[in-house]
Amino acid sequence: MKFITGGLRRLSCVLGLLLLGLGTAFLRAQQDEPAPPPRVQVQPAPQPPPQVQPPENQPVKIEPVQEPPPLYLDTNQPVEKRVEDLLGRMTLEEKIAQVHADSKFSTAAIPRLGIPRRWIDDGPHGVREDVGPYSWNAAGRNDDYATWMPALSALGSTWNVDLATAYGNVLGQESRARDKDILLAPIVDIARTPLCGRIYEYFGEDPFLNTRMGVNYIEGVQSNEVAACVKHFAGNNQEDGRGSINMDMDERTLREIYLPPFEAAVKEAHVWAVMGAYTKFRGEYCAYNDYLINKILKGEWGFPGLVMSDWGGTHSTREAALGGLDVEMGTLVGSEDQSAYTNFFLASAFLDAIRTNGIPVSVLDDKVRRSLRVMFASHIFDPVRLPGALNSPEHRTTAQRVAEESMVLLKNNNNALPLDVSKIKSVAVIGENAVRHNAAGFFGAGVKTMYEVTPLDGIEQLVGGKVNVTYSAGYSKEGGDSNLVKRAVTAARQADVAIIVAGLNHSRYLDDEGRDRTNLSLPYGQNELIQRIARINRHTIVVLVSGPAIEMDPWLDRVPAVLQAHYSGMEGGHALARILFGDVNPSGKLTVTYPKQLLDSPAHALDTYPGTNGTLFYKEGLLVGYRWFDAKDIEPLFPFGFGLSYTTFEYSNLKLVPGHDTNGPVVTAEFDLANTGPRAGAEVAQLYVHQENPSLPRPLKELKGFKKVFLNPGEKQIVSIPLDVRSFAFYDPAKSTWVAQSDDFKIEVGSSSKDIRLTDNFHLR
Ligand code: BGC
Repeated sequence: MKFITGGLRRLSCVLGLLLLGLGTAFLRAQQDEPAPPPRVQVQPAPQPPPQVQPPENQPVKIEPVQEPPPLYLDTNQPVEKRVEDLLGRMTLEEKIAQVHADSKFSTAAIPRLGIPRRWIDDGPHGVREDVGPYSWNAAGRNDDYATWMPALSALGSTWNVDLATAYGNVLGQESRARDKDILLAPIVDIARTPLCGRIYEYFGEDPFLNTRMGVNYIEGVQSNEVAACVKHFAGNNQEDGRGSINMDMDERTLREIYLPPFEAAVKEAHVWAVMGAYTKFRGEYCAYNDYLINKILKGEWGFPGLVMSDWGGTHSTREAALGGLDVEMGTLVGSEDQSAYTNFFLASAFLDAIRTNGIPVSVLDDKVRRSLRVMFASHIFDPVRLPGALNSPEHRTTAQRVAEESMVLLKNNNNALPLDVSKIKSVAVIGENAVRHNAAGFFGAGVKTMYEVTPLDGIEQLVGGKVNVTYSAGYSKEGGDSNLVKRAVTAARQADVAIIVAGLNHSRYLDDEGRDRTNLSLPYGQNELIQRIARINRHTIVVLVSGPAIEMDPWLDRVPAVLQAHYSGMEGGHALARILFGDVNPSGKLTVTYPKQLLDSPAHALDTYPGTNGTLFYKEGLLVGYRWFDAKDIEPLFPFGFGLSYTTFEYSNLKLVPGHDTNGPVVTAEFDLANTGPRAGAEVAQLYVHQENPSLPRPLKELKGFKKVFLNPGEKQIVSIPLDVRSFAFYDPAKSTWVAQSDDFKIEVGSSSKDIRLTDNFHLR
């Protein structure tokens, strides 16, 4: 598959180079009829040379007139020159065509100028199955399978930034192979409430962690000539009411909690596209919120790329045009046929407003410039583009590695895990999630995958020949059948070990887009099921396939081991089995605080969720996640940063090594980390900062550095975590800037936000 695609592409590239000199348009751009993206980028078709009429009876040598290629096709020219050249050749109507969709996931081609149709697609965990082009129905292709990666909550839980790069690279390569120009990912929104229906698509609750994972993910995607589109800017923190809810928060909270991952996406990763959230912020829709987009994103941060709306997230022409929206996508009302797209707010109505001088043409030009920049940056006009790769063995290996490093061991009394095949004869695998396929469907996070290794598959393939593996569902999404429970209890009674693969799925009101969960409990009677199984089998292991977080009060004390397995991608079953049976040592850490009960979480303790009369004020301010639990001294069920291992780690010898403060660190924390247990394993060392006497209140601790370190038994390493000025700074609303005050700071290094092993003080001058 890969070879054939690559071969055709190379052939088409050679063709393209031959024809480029004629200055002709790409055939890809000549498709009048919108169609799903072509598998092969077809290159310019030659225009016939001008005909010269020979005088009668006189032989004439015909020499085709060779037009020099237009400047915008000259890859040696600076991008801004190419942009201006192309913009100068476009009519008003052609410009308008670039600022709104012409199908569910594309903008129009302009054949006359060789501007190809631009293909955009979800999503964060793999390139989505093709739909439409004018409906949400699957396109019915057989070449739109893609690697299904573990969910972003799993990637976050690896705390491994190199894996974030590798993950982004997989997505970038697969986007190229499927001719997508913009990938709608990653999501860097903050997990504010554990009820959020899309929390499994989020990295976690901490801005620093989301920043580091987001930057590397974007760099991975964009290294493949594909633009990443970071989303949802800014503050899409719940699904309930997302289409209209008005969010408000104080300025420090905006700057310190919700914006940093976007700021770094722009300034560090040079992301090419940003998607505005559905929600409103201080009364204006996010996608064209003058303050968020014009002032902060494009003004303060100097973002040169394009802002697109979420699908159906545009509600007016004038506000959208002036508020900074550059491309209107996915208006839902009446968009089931091609003609609907001319009724978009940024289509005919925008053209009219410009013609009647209601809106200056410079506003349109700025939007088109941004689109063209992204096209040049992603090499959309080049005759030779990177071929990408689809469904490759390397991609599956990355999927498995992410899954293996993401699973979080939450409890492991008396070394219940790993299981030793030489000591057990039988395993009862119980639970619908042991066999459920989780990849397909459910909006933009679904992937059409070639296969999915379920937990049961993984366990059977790894140990099926050595131990007797049985399966019983125990519960069903479809409703109570007491025989299911009875059969599971019987199976558990007869087995040495019971493995209950419990959790959620992507049904409405669970881990799903558009609606939040209604509580943190396990559905379908799973609490009772676990209680009953635990009563008759002391070796009951609970595996949770879900986004964070789950309430475990009814059964946590009764089982020896619990593993948070997330939605772990197409190789997830293999990863899970290898962890359960000890081939892999778990090294994931939580990226979200698990509360004992929902009311312990800030958004719920302060009764701010889901908003009142259409408005949601973020009353907890800076105290999101562990910041709240620390400040209020509330014991979480499991703290942020927590995760056990089959080995043990010892921290010692913390030194703060001063640096310089212009472009480097002001100080570097150095300490020894040793694997003092019996197995090889990885530890995520975390560094938190606390300011002793700030002029404005600050959280008790804030994550400002981390490092994942792999160590063999007995091995010791010096770990260095650099801190720059921003690590010590807070946003001062009175000065409208970040301020690092000269003060004493406590530096805390540990294994979780609640398990601090080393402390030292640093004085910032
Ligand atoms: C989601 C976006 C997604 C878009 C296109 C929206 O409902 O919020 O994240 O990219 O649909 O599928």
